[in-house]
Amino acid sequence: MNGLIIQLAYVASAALFIMGLKLLGSAATARKGNTLSAVGMLVAIVAALIDQGIVSYQWIIIGVLVGGLIGAVAARLVQMTSMPEMVALFNGFGGLASLLVGWAALSGDASTFTVITIVLSVLIGGVTFTGSLIAYGKLSETLGSGAIMFRGQQVVNSLIVLGIIGAAVMLSMDPTNTTWLYAVIGLSLLFGIMAVIPIGGADMPVVISLLNSYSGLAACAAGFAINNNILIVAGSLVGASGIILTQIMCKSMNRSLGNVLFSGFGSGVTEATVVEGEIKPISVEDAYYVLEAATNVAIIPGYGMAVAQAQHVVKELCELLEQNGAEVNFGIHPVAGRMPGHMNVLLAEADVPYDQLLEMDEINPRMETVDVAIVIGANDVVNPAAREVESSPIYGMPVINVDTAKTVFVLKRSMASGFAGIENPLFYKENTRMLFGDAKESIGGLIREFS
Ligand code: TAP
Repeated sequence: MNGLIIQLAYVASAALFIMGLKLLGSAATARKGNTLSAVGMLVAIVAALIDQGIVSYQWIIIGVLVGGLIGAVAARLVQMTSMPEMVALFNGFGGLASLLVGWAALSGDASTFTVITIVLSVLIGGVTFTGSLIAYGKLSETLGSGAIMFRGQQVVNSLIVLGIIGAAVMLSMDPTNTTWLYAVIGLSLLFGIMAVIPIGGADMPVVISLLNSYSGLAACAAGFAINNNILIVAGSLVGASGIILTQIMCKSMNRSLGNVLFSGFGSGVTEATVVEGEIKPISVEDAYYVLEAATNVAIIPGYGMAVAQAQHVVKELCELLEQNGAEVNFGIHPVAGRMPGHMNVLLAEADVPYDQLLEMDEINPRMETVDVAIVIGANDVVNPAAREVESSPIYGMPVINVDTAKTVFVLKRSMASGFAGIENPLFYKENTRMLFGDAKESIGGLIREFS
C-alpha cells in the first residue's frame, strides 16, 4: 500500500513537471509554471525519502539547509547578466550529484545492467561537471573566453574515450574492483574539460544548454542505477528539453551543433567584412525631433539593454511614443542577449505588454513600413553582414532587418563589436544614425525631451 502511494506521488510529480514545462513556454504563464514544477519537485523529494526507508535524516536536513541557503543567497545576489554562468554552475552540480549517486550505487554483486547505468551516470555526470565549470569560467571571463585548440587534440580526445570504454568494460566484468570505477570517474572529468575548451565564448550559451541536457541524461541513468522512477522521468524531461533548446539556438545562429562543438568558432574569427560609408552620430535632441514625427516605431533590444538595465526607461519611452500617436512594437531575436528568453524576461520585468513583443519572423516583413527602428544595445542580431557578406562568420544567421526601416538609431557606447567579435556594416549605412552613450542615459535624455 505504502509502495502504491509512493508510486502515485511520483506520477503526480511527473504530471506537475510536464504541466510546469508547458506553462514555461509563454512569458505570461512562466511564473506559474515555475511554481508548479517546484511543487512537483517537493512531492518527488518527500516521496523518494520515504521510499528509500531512510532511518536517519540528520545529514539530509543539514544538506537541505546548507544547500538551500547557498542557492537562495546566490539567486538573490546574481546579476541578470550573470544568469547564464549561474545556470552553468547549477548544471555542473546536477552532473556531480549524478556522479556521486552512481558511485554510491556500485556494489560487488551489481548486475551488468546496473553497472552500465552506473558507468553512464558517472560518465555523463563527470563530463557535465567539469564541462560546466569550464563553461562558467569562460562566460565569467575567469578563464579566457576564446577557443583553445592544439595539435593532436582529436587524438588525445580519442584516447580518453577509448580509456573510458576500456575501464567501463573491465568494471562490468569485475564490479568488486573499484579501481576501474575511479578510472572512469577520472577520465570523465578530464573529458569534460577537453570537450569544452575548444569551444569559443560566443557559443557558450549553446554549450550550457547542451550540458543542461547532459545533466538530465546523467540523472536519468542514475535513476536506473538506484531504481528510482521519478529520477528517470525528471532526468528524461531535462535531457529532452535541453536538446530541443540547443537545437532552437543552433537554428537561430544558422549553425549545426557539430559546427558549434568542433569548429573552434571564436578562436580567431576571420574578419572579412569590408565596410563602406561613414559613421553619422546624432544627438539626443536631434533624435527626439525624428522620433516626435514618427508614427511607426520598432524597438530592437540586445545584450546592451541588459548591461545598461535600461528596460524600465525603455518602457517609459514606449509609452511616451504611444501618447504621441505612434505605434510601437518590439522585435525580439531568439538569441539576443546571453540566454534564451533574455529580452522577454527583462521586458516582462518592466511590464511591457506581451502582445507588443514580436518575434523576428513577425517583425521582419513589417520593417519597411517602420519610420524609426531603435536598436538598443543589440549588435550581432541586427548585423546585415549575415545577409550580405558571404565570407562573414555569421553569414546565413537570421537577423532582424532593421536596415530596411526608413531610419535606424543605434544606441551603444562605442564602435566596439558584439559577442561574435565582428564588424557591423549597419552602423555605416545611409539611413543609420549612431546615438552614442550608455543606453539608459540616452533613453533618459529622450524621455526628458518628450516631457
Ligand atoms: P551583442 O552582439 O553581444 O552586442 C551587444 C552590444 O551592446 C555591444 O555591441 C555593446 O557595444 C552594446 N552595449 C553594451 N553595454 C551597453 C550599454 N551599457 N549601453 C548601450 N550599449 C551597450 O548582443 P546581441 O545583438 O544581443 O547579440 C547576442 C550575441 O550573443 C549573438 O552573437 C548571439 O549569437 C550570441 N549568443 C546568444 C545566445 C542567447 S541564447 N541569447 C546564445 C548563443 C549565442 P558598446 O560596447 O559599444 O556599448
